[in-house]
Amino acid sequence: MLALAAATVLGFMVLLLPSLVRAYNERQNKLSDLNNTMQENLAGMRVVKAFVQEDQEVAKFDQRAEGMRKPAYRAAVRVAVMNPALVTIAQLFIVLTLWVGGGQVITQAGLEIGQVVMVMQYLSMIIMPLSMLAIAVPFILRGDTSAQRIFEIIDAEPFVQDKPDAQPRNPEQVKGRLVFENVSFAFRRPDGTLDPPVLKNINLTIEPGERVGFLGATGAGKSALVNLVPRFYDVTAGRITIDGVDVRDIPQENLRQIVGIALQEAVLFQGTVHFNLKFGNPEVHDDVMIGAARSADAFGFIMQLPQQWDAPVARRGYNFSGGQRQRLAIARTLTAQPRILILDDSTSALDVATESRVQEAIPQFTENVTTLYVAQRISAVIDLDKIVLLQNGEIIAQGAHEELMQSSQLYQEIYQSQLGAGLKGSGQEVTA
Ligand SMILES: Nc1ncnc2c1ncn2[C@@H]1O[C@H](COP(=O)(O)OP(=O)(O)O)[C@@H](O)[C@H]1O
Ligand SMILES: [Mg+2]
Repeated sequence: MLALAAATVLGFMVLLLPSLVRAYNERQNKLSDLNNTMQENLAGMRVVKAFVQEDQEVAKFDQRAEGMRKPAYRAAVRVAVMNPALVTIAQLFIVLTLWVGGGQVITQAGLEIGQVVMVMQYLSMIIMPLSMLAIAVPFILRGDTSAQRIFEIIDAEPFVQDKPDAQPRNPEQVKGRLVFENVSFAFRRPDGTLDPPVLKNINLTIEPGERVGFLGATGAGKSALVNLVPRFYDVTAGRITIDGVDVRDIPQENLRQIVGIALQEAVLFQGTVHFNLKFGNPEVHDDVMIGAARSADAFGFIMQLPQQWDAPVARRGYNFSGGQRQRLAIARTLTAQPRILILDDSTSALDVATESRVQEAIPQFTENVTTLYVAQRISAVIDLDKIVLLQNGEIIAQGAHEELMQSSQLYQEIYQSQLGAGLKGSGQEVTA
C-alpha cells in the first residue's frame, strides 16, 4: 500500500518532468533572444532613431517577448498542476486507507486500529517531502539550464594557445624582420569548421625598420593579415616569423610587447588621458608618452583640454571626436614602444593634412621600428619603402611606388582615380 502510494506519486512526477524540462529550456533560450534584442537596441539607440525604426524595433521586442511568454506559461502551468496534484494523490491514498482499513477494523476482518493509524502516519510523512520536492524541482531545473550556459563559456577553449615550451624574447633585442611564408587564413565558425579562406598564399618579407603600406578594397583581407602578427588569430596554413622565430613559438604576452597594433576601431577606456596613453605600459616615463602624443598629433588638443593629461575619458572614448580617438589610440600604441608597429586604417578619420603630419612624425619617434601601415588613400602610403596591394585575399603586386606604377595596372588605376586629376593639372602647366 505504502509502496504503491509512493510509486504513484513518483510516477506522476517522472511523467511530468520531461515536458517541464523542455519548457524551461525553451524559456531560457527565448530569454536570451529577448536579452540580445534589447541589448542591441540600447547600444544602437541612435541608429534606430536616425533611421526612424522605433516602431519596428518595438514590434520586434514584442514578438520576442511573446515568444518567451509561451514556454514560460507552459512551465508555470505544469508547476501549478504538479504540486496540488501530488498532494491530492497522497490524500486520496489516506482516504483509501481509512476506507479499506476502517472497514476491516469495524468488521475485525484484518487490520487493527493501530496499524491503520501507522499507515496514515507514514503516508503523511511521504507527502511532506514530496510536495517540497515539487516546489524545489522548478528551481533546480532553471538553475541547471543556466549552469549549462555558464559552463559552456567557462569550458570554451581559446583557439590561440601558448605552447608549453614557448620562449619569451627580450623586446629590446628584437630586430623586427617579419616574414609571411605561404600564409593562408580562414575564419573559424563557432562550430569549429572553417569559412572560405580570406587570405591565400601570402608571401611577404619585411626587413627590420622597413615601412610597408597595405592597400586594397574593403574586405580584401588587410585587417585579417595584420591581425595574424600579434596572433589575434592563428594562420590556417604556412607560418609567420619574427627574426626567424615562428610567432606561435613566442608567448602571447611577450609577443604583444613586441608587436603594437592600433586597431581599425579606436576604443578608449573610461579613465584619464594619461591612463589611456600608458595603458600598455603604466611604468613608462612621461617623456615617452609626451613624445608619442606629439607624433600622433594628439599633443595639441590634449593641451587645450582644461585638465590636460588628467582630462577624463568617457566609456569607449565617446567624449572625443573620431579623429581625436584615432590619434589617442595611435599615441597609446606608440607609448608602449613596440618593435613592430601596425596601424590598421588608424588614420581614416583624419583629414589629409593631419594624416600626412602624423605620418611624417611617427618615423622620428619610431626609429628602426618595422611599420605596417594599412590605409585607404594612396597618398598615405606613396612615400613608404614598399606598398603591398591586396585583392580578394591575395597579394597581386608589391614594390615601391615607382615600381608599381610600372608593373601594376590596378595600382595605376587606383592612383589615377585618387590623385590623377591633380597631378595631370600640374603636368599640363609644366608642358604649357
Ligand atoms: N570575424 C570575422 N568572421 C568571419 N569573416 C570575417 C570576419 N572579419 C572579417 N571577415 C571577412 O574576411 C574578409 C576580409 O576582411 P578584412 O580583413 O576585415 O578586410 P579589410 O580590412 O581589407 O577591409 C572579408 O570578406 C570579411 O567579410
Ligand atoms: Mg580592415
